[in-house]
Amino acid sequence: MNLKNGFLDIPIDPQLDIFEEIAKLKKEKKAIVLAHYYQEPDIQDIADYIGDSLGLAQKAATADAEMIVFAGVHFMAETAKILNPTKKVVLPDLNAGCSLADSAPTDLFASFKAKHPNHVIVSYINCSAEIKALSDIICTSGNAEKIIESIPEKQPILFAPDKNLGRYLNKKTGRNMLLWDGACMVHEIFSVEKIVKLKIRYPKAKVLAHPECEEAILNMADFIGSTTQILKYSQQDNSKEYIVATETGILHQMQQKTPQKLFIPAPPNNNCACNDCPHMKLNTLEKIYLCMKYEQPEININEALRIAAKKPIDKMMEISRAAGLVM
Ligand code: 13P
Ligand code: SF4
Repeated sequence: MNLKNGFLDIPIDPQLDIFEEIAKLKKEKKAIVLAHYYQEPDIQDIADYIGDSLGLAQKAATADAEMIVFAGVHFMAETAKILNPTKKVVLPDLNAGCSLADSAPTDLFASFKAKHPNHVIVSYINCSAEIKALSDIICTSGNAEKIIESIPEKQPILFAPDKNLGRYLNKKTGRNMLLWDGACMVHEIFSVEKIVKLKIRYPKAKVLAHPECEEAILNMADFIGSTTQILKYSQQDNSKEYIVATETGILHQMQQKTPQKLFIPAPPNNNCACNDCPHMKLNTLEKIYLCMKYEQPEININEALRIAAKKPIDKMMEISRAAGLVM
């Protein structure tokens, strides 16, 4: 099968009912579709589970399907394979990377680590398997604070790769973690000025922000959390209007859960659609259908690397369980 471009580039009969075909393939192949909140609405609607990085990792670890179809980005599918290696894991488009993961090349990170031998390495899950293998504990935006708090106060910490999340955690926990200089291209783009203008138009609107956002945006936020936490907050809170500073995909669930509320995507600082993650949005229903049908592109990982990368994820799960964040 031709995977030259990182995905199956095969024409699909336009008459085909893709929704029905995907449903058939799920049964036929005992497949489960896991989707991140940043996927387009149609993909979220066909998913068996939608979640944030923490929820998806946990679901992937316990999935008893024969094939895990990951509607997300590469590091997420790779994490699924690390946690559940006997399952076939497919990613609709191998080009679905992540600017945060790309900001930490293994060789540079290894030498940075070597310069700070007394530091515990905490890495955000948005990184490659190689970076995970060089880390002591992994965290997600949903459990980062608890992970940092579980480390003795005097222990120096090196946090990678997201400097915005790292800075936010330093402020929250009173630590002085050494930060790797990486950032998410989507969460760096929000405009303070445009949010201020929106607040003038919608004075009662609350600002909900993901901790990958820059400090100036986080300073304006009424609530900061992972995608799942933001979604939950929007359901439980009794305001009627929200300005949402994260990738636009999350608005689909927000709107579905509380259709009577108004959710406004925080505008980027130019006129592009930069608050859509270009990596997440590489996945389409057509690519999902093709990758289920042909079971490609498949994620495979060298066993020694898998075992080394799994250790800090297991540590994360252990701390998250103790903190009641996962079952
Ligand atoms: P969460 O899924 O932890 O909210 O993180 C968002 C993100 O950027 C995933 O790539
Ligand atoms: Fe990576 Fe940012 Fe896209 Fe998430 S939104 S996958 S952190 S580039």
